[in-house]
Amino acid sequence: MRDILQELEDRRAAARLGGGEKRIAAQHAKGKLTARERIELLLDEGSFEEFDMFVAHRCTDFGMEKDRPYGDGVVTGWGTVNGRMVYVFSQDFTVFGGSLSETHAQKICKIMDMAMQNGAPVVGINDSGGARIQEGVASLAGYAEVFQRNIMASGVVPQISLVMGPCAGGAVYSPAMTDFIFMVRDSSYMFVTGPDVVKTVTNEVVTAEELGGAHTHTTKSSVADGAFEDDLEALMEVRRLIDFLPLSNREKPPIRPFFDDPERQEPSLDTLVPANPNQPYDMKELIEKVADEGDFYEIQEGFARNIITGFIRLEGTSVGVVANQPMVLAGCLDIDASRKAARFVRFCDAFEIPILTFVDVPGFLPGTGQELGGVIKHGAKLLFAYGEATVPKVTVITRKAYGGAYDVMSSKHIRGDINYAWPTAEIAVMGAKGAVEILYRGDLGDAEKIAARTREYEDRFANPFVAAERGFIDEVIQPRSTRRRISRAFAALRNKRLSNPWKKHDNIPL
Ligand code: HXC
Repeated sequence: MRDILQELEDRRAAARLGGGEKRIAAQHAKGKLTARERIELLLDEGSFEEFDMFVAHRCTDFGMEKDRPYGDGVVTGWGTVNGRMVYVFSQDFTVFGGSLSETHAQKICKIMDMAMQNGAPVVGINDSGGARIQEGVASLAGYAEVFQRNIMASGVVPQISLVMGPCAGGAVYSPAMTDFIFMVRDSSYMFVTGPDVVKTVTNEVVTAEELGGAHTHTTKSSVADGAFEDDLEALMEVRRLIDFLPLSNREKPPIRPFFDDPERQEPSLDTLVPANPNQPYDMKELIEKVADEGDFYEIQEGFARNIITGFIRLEGTSVGVVANQPMVLAGCLDIDASRKAARFVRFCDAFEIPILTFVDVPGFLPGTGQELGGVIKHGAKLLFAYGEATVPKVTVITRKAYGGAYDVMSSKHIRGDINYAWPTAEIAVMGAKGAVEILYRGDLGDAEKIAARTREYEDRFANPFVAAERGFIDEVIQPRSTRRRISRAFAALRNKRLSNPWKKHDNIPL
């Protein structure tokens, strides 16, 4: 019996070594952790239950039958993050460069199937040279099996991808279909075709980092949602994110103990909006001042910074926040901002996370770049996402809510549940200057007349009361009491029930 037990331990030890000491050292030398070290850090201590530790590939081409390491380049199983279950796979670059074989794919598919059945998120740690070259089409088939599961799991369980090494070719499409992608600066990259192919086909000379590094994907392409300094920081931040999310679409978001009084007043908010309507202020200050313990988890911080998206808690419950940022492009909506916010709103709605919207928007960004880039279709994404969402929606207009952008930003007309305005709100078709220039074109030469007309327009429309008279605003509130008002609003909406008409699926303007 002792021999058998010893054999199990020996086999386990061999499996834990992956591609061997030398390759582990090479991994560390690149500043990267191993697949197992990453899992240890991601999950609660001692909580990891591994599956398929002894799976080996079945390839017999290119002499592969002589090299059949345990685990086949991916470590899979489940564990807990702050006591809550998650499934995880972590590609092991020390085994055939983490490349995906038929059996490697089967291991991933197994935990994805379990995650969907049991209702728990999937965290995928990607560090791979792509399709296992020796296996050919069997590997491509394996990828497609994973892709299909990514699609089926979308909206059922949260899917989070960490890219912590290479992720190239068709392999990028698995993370691309998950809810969030996080990358590590200088050690990870994602691209469909690498720098060499790019050079051959288009003659462009570009480094891997420029083409698909963390900076590129979090500031330019918006493929990734966050960039971190190293593996450790990325893993800790994913733990933090998981704490905001429900385990599946069958559950409500978690409620955490909170130590921050929901009645807390913030007198400083009374002066957040400057007297001059053209002067910016930092919308993040408002978000942080209303959040429990000032804790804000921002998503896509480096992209389309004219809109802010992320998670806070109110009375311990997760809330998704979408807010125009007057500090960037005056908070205008544009193509990038609309896409970013629309995807976030749809994530929240899919997982029953209530949505809080802070509005200070002078309209859609004008320009040929925007029109030719399809701002009509892209802007419609955000409008569509808000309008179809059935989760509780609370909106606060702090200053400008002009034109179509007013309608889009979770207005009452697209099923905003409770819409507040600060006394500084201006709800109108456009700003006073633009309006007067159109209405009184003939008087444009007469500065005095124009000034008088502008004042007249401001007096009439640069306030929240015209909208409040019609019930488009439920209440004009004191800025200092915003936390209390929105906490109470969400509390009142806790049992909200709303469903959309039956359909196979909608046809959001993609
Ligand atoms: C089999 C692979 C491999 C692969 C790497 N290795 N990629 N084995 N299939 N795809 C092995 C290497 O032979 C090497 O083995 C070990 O992994 C480490 O690789 P190195 O090249 O030494 O590492 P490094 O210098 O860090 O370079 C990493 C790399 C490079 C940039 C990823 O290995 C590379 O270019 N690999 C090929 C990438 C590729 O073209 N993949 C197919 C893409 S198409 P030893 O024994 O020496 O340690 C694709 C399609 C997916 O993925 C389609 C889905 C629809």
